Amino acid sequence: MPLSRRSFLKKTSYLVATGLVAPHIIRANPSVLGANDKVNVALIGCKGMGWSNLMDFMPHPEVNCVALCDIDNNILQSRAAELEKNHGMKPALYGDYRKLLDDKNIDIVIIGTPDHWHCLQFVDACAAGKDVYVEKPIANSIAECDAMVAAAQRYNTVVQVGQQQRSSKHWQEMVKYLRSGQLGDIGRVHVWANFNYAAMQPPVPDSDVPAGVDFETWLGPTPKKTFNSQRFHGSWRMFWDYGGGLLTDWGVHLLDMGLWGMDVQGMPLSVQATGGNFLYPNGAHETFDTMSVTYRFPKHIMTWENNAGVETGPYGKCYGVLFRGTNGMLVANRDDWEVIPEGTKLAPTKMVADYQDHRDHVTNFLECVKTRNRNTACTIENGSLCAKYAQIGNISARIGGETLVYDDAKKKFDKGEANKLLKPKYRSPWKFPNL
Ligand SMILES: NC(=O)c1ccc[n+]([C@@H]2O[C@H](COP(=O)([O-])OP(=O)(O)OC[C@H]3O[C@@H](n4cnc5c(N)ncnc54)[C@H](O)[C@@H]3O)[C@@H](O)[C@H]2O)c1
Repeated sequence: MPLSRRSFLKKTSYLVATGLVAPHIIRANPSVLGANDKVNVALIGCKGMGWSNLMDFMPHPEVNCVALCDIDNNILQSRAAELEKNHGMKPALYGDYRKLLDDKNIDIVIIGTPDHWHCLQFVDACAAGKDVYVEKPIANSIAECDAMVAAAQRYNTVVQVGQQQRSSKHWQEMVKYLRSGQLGDIGRVHVWANFNYAAMQPPVPDSDVPAGVDFETWLGPTPKKTFNSQRFHGSWRMFWDYGGGLLTDWGVHLLDMGLWGMDVQGMPLSVQATGGNFLYPNGAHETFDTMSVTYRFPKHIMTWENNAGVETGPYGKCYGVLFRGTNGMLVANRDDWEVIPEGTKLAPTKMVADYQDHRDHVTNFLECVKTRNRNTACTIENGSLCAKYAQIGNISARIGGETLVYDDAKKKFDKGEANKLLKPKYRSPWKFPNL
């Protein structure tokens, strides 16, 4: 009789403890979960998207939420109470994710922390034998993306990246339409995002750390800073140590559609970006409120534009993706996609979204976990590619708008200044994962 993965892990943990087998060997030989097995799920980072993801796991009858972890005890307690009231479950509660990962009964970990924490928690979760649903962007630097891909491959981890658009039927149909060639030769992909969160808030002074918050752990591997509410829950994404502004926050979702639609698998020939804080120069943010990026390919260009603090945009959409071909153009966002023909060269076509992508993304992940299929709707390799696109755009703008060539095999830019931004320096006692 085949071992369930959990009993397999329990048995092999004895071998690890006695030094008879290295820890990662356990995960190299995972066994399939039985059809009737419960799936034990844990969440790290409970406030926003992590919780929303967990709520998409809960309707699946096999899902058992066994653990929650957050450095903000107020959030931890209120989420635990919510889970007990609405789902009758009493998970174990943790402030330190490493203690949560010690629980051998946990099958899946959802990572819903800010971007600067994804890499360490992901690599540790893979090494501990968990499968992982990790939020996007997978990391806050190129070197972290590489470490995460290496970890998932080494430990044979089934990963879903929270780029749920890949599970959306209307985006899938859009890709089919583009690949059919009906649009003719596509010379330009334009991607944009204009949103009025975070960037336009006036700065506030530093203050005491709120009661119940372990701010030292929130900072984790990033530089030591005093507490400021505008660099904390939610709004951290506009500060370089923790996020990369709209280009990483929305860019990874939308650039991913531009790359997927054009079947791009690697880095562009070159990237050039310009950014500045022109709309809200006195707002509480470091990342650029106004930004343009050009990615060059052999037969097309992909451009990115963001304007933070406003919510109007091209084609009546505050965010979207445009594919411009010789026969017409296709304009898409999360609501729909539409083909606007060039004269009479094409039939007008439109498809609207069913808004089931979050749910379907989780369903796809659970199926893949049960069958040990690493080819999920959004693999760690998919997540890494578009996170790197966002990073190289930000790096070009941060060093003053230089045109850059990034060699993904050599892990180097052609300009020294840019190479300094490839890898963050982790603050002790945290160590950059060595894989
Ligand atoms: N897929 C999507 O559409 C989507 C939408 C929104 C956010 N996101 C992503 O989800 C992630 C979280 O974003 P958010 O808006 O929910 O952030 P948030 O700041 O609202 O929540 C993050 C939570 O993580 C906790 N946390 C921080 N460090 C921790 C640590 N070391 N251990 C345990 N808990 C820790 C915080 O206390 C907080 O509760 C980000 O990567 C973001 O890009 C994805």
